[in-house]
Amino acid sequence: MFTSFHARAQVQFDPAPSLEPTGKPVMTASKKTPAGVTCVGVPVTTDGGVPSELGLDRAALDRAGFSGEVGQTLVIPRSGAPTLVAFGIGDPTALDVATLRDAAAAFARAAAVHEKVAVMVGERGRVSPGDAARAMIEGVALARYRFLPLKRATADKLAKQEAPLAELTVVAPDGADEVTAGVERGVICARATELARDLSNAPATLLTARRMADIARALAAECNLEVEVFDEEALSELACGGILGVNAGSVEPPRMIKLTYRPKEPALHVSLVAKGIMYDSGGISLKPNDLVHATMKGDMSGAAAALAAMSTLSALDCRNAVTAYLMCTDNMPSGTAMKLGDVLQVRGGTTVEVQNTDAEGRLVMADALVLSTELDPKPDAIVDIATLTGACQRALGTLRAGVMGNDQGLVDQVVAAAERTDEPVWQLPLERRYRKELESEVADMKNVGGENAGALTAALFLEEFVAGIPWAHLDIAGTARSETDDSWRSKGATGFGTRLLIELLTELTPLAVH
Ligand code: BES
Ligand code: ZN
Ligand code: MN
Repeated sequence: MFTSFHARAQVQFDPAPSLEPTGKPVMTASKKTPAGVTCVGVPVTTDGGVPSELGLDRAALDRAGFSGEVGQTLVIPRSGAPTLVAFGIGDPTALDVATLRDAAAAFARAAAVHEKVAVMVGERGRVSPGDAARAMIEGVALARYRFLPLKRATADKLAKQEAPLAELTVVAPDGADEVTAGVERGVICARATELARDLSNAPATLLTARRMADIARALAAECNLEVEVFDEEALSELACGGILGVNAGSVEPPRMIKLTYRPKEPALHVSLVAKGIMYDSGGISLKPNDLVHATMKGDMSGAAAALAAMSTLSALDCRNAVTAYLMCTDNMPSGTAMKLGDVLQVRGGTTVEVQNTDAEGRLVMADALVLSTELDPKPDAIVDIATLTGACQRALGTLRAGVMGNDQGLVDQVVAAAERTDEPVWQLPLERRYRKELESEVADMKNVGGENAGALTAALFLEEFVAGIPWAHLDIAGTARSETDDSWRSKGATGFGTRLLIELLTELTPLAVH
């Protein structure tokens, strides 16, 4: 049998190490610091008292240049006792969950050499003990995340500056039940984000659409989800010409992964559509430079976030039913690749002229959006998530994602969920006067608009396929990756959208009928 170069060269690799029960940090709540902890984080505000645990007064902190601003840390080594790290939480009257998460992330980085750490939830202003505990878990766990499965030198090289986190204890003398619940939710959300990061960080040759489907199957069995995987034959029976067209140049077959979460008595039904381009070379419209190519293994970050979010719904006892479509394929140039000027027919029959093979995300998503509209019962809302346009990254940068939609109530709920998880989004207008830019000479539409407002014309393309159902579209092209360690965003894939989707899916309330 013919084995491809890639198959022979394959390294032993687990694309989702965060799924493994072993090696994960143990994260718990406790009333006091457990034995074995070598480093304790102590939150300090910019004014008011200094926690007695530090054994230092304000003047001593001031002399060390530590004023308690968020992001500041002061490491205090002690003989025969755990190292203390004072970490700033700013003005106590302005404290919120995002501030505490950022502060906890700064503490985690200052404590990078320590495997077993504890963090105190002392002063927390108006933030509830549960929310504070959750923020601490997310901040520390996500800041300490590293993608290690392909590094051989972890033990010797890394450990000197950075130890893998083994144990994290949130110490709170009061509100034990609330703190425990907050820790539990924080652990679920942090682990899901780590899974999304693992998948996005995994090299494209090692994490193919087929492998993504294997991971989804394994997760579904563990997480109380139904799963159905569609190969090229099944996709062709469904007339999914979008994903099949994008896959045409590839050696690797495509997979559409359908996951369903069904609570006993569902309140609402939501459909989730996610872009899963395992590698986006641009296709025949080949991307122009290597630096861009090198980040395009992450063009499945929408699918990673959706899969990770789905994996939490049962554990969080979500009352809404959710169907997710992960549209997985790579986008490659070859003799069999789709060409410019080709016309694809997506699910539902719409014909699309391909004027740029690099605008592939919208093609694969069109099939899934149409399938969503055909669900029985019809979904109350459709939400999609995609690393869709460089234009959105240009407009909003790497810290804020774009959101667009046809239903203001739904968009408002997305914005609110994003604020709560500190994965901020900004609404861009669905300016329908630009719709004419998508008109084609030969087909119903073309897959690109003009040179301006690329994020908007991409959204207008998607809107064609939602049949008027309330729909919101998240463009995470800019936020899926961070070039630096920045608060809870570790360098590399950020897992952006995972916690936002969890929050949205679990909290979504009925939309006004128009
Ligand atoms: N995957 C890219 C978008 C992207 C850009 C993601 C930067 C992450 C970082 C997408 O498939 C793409 O290539 N979009 C084109 C669309 C254009 C051809 C209309 C773009 O943004 O240039
Ligand atoms: Zn893409
Ligand atoms: Mn592309």
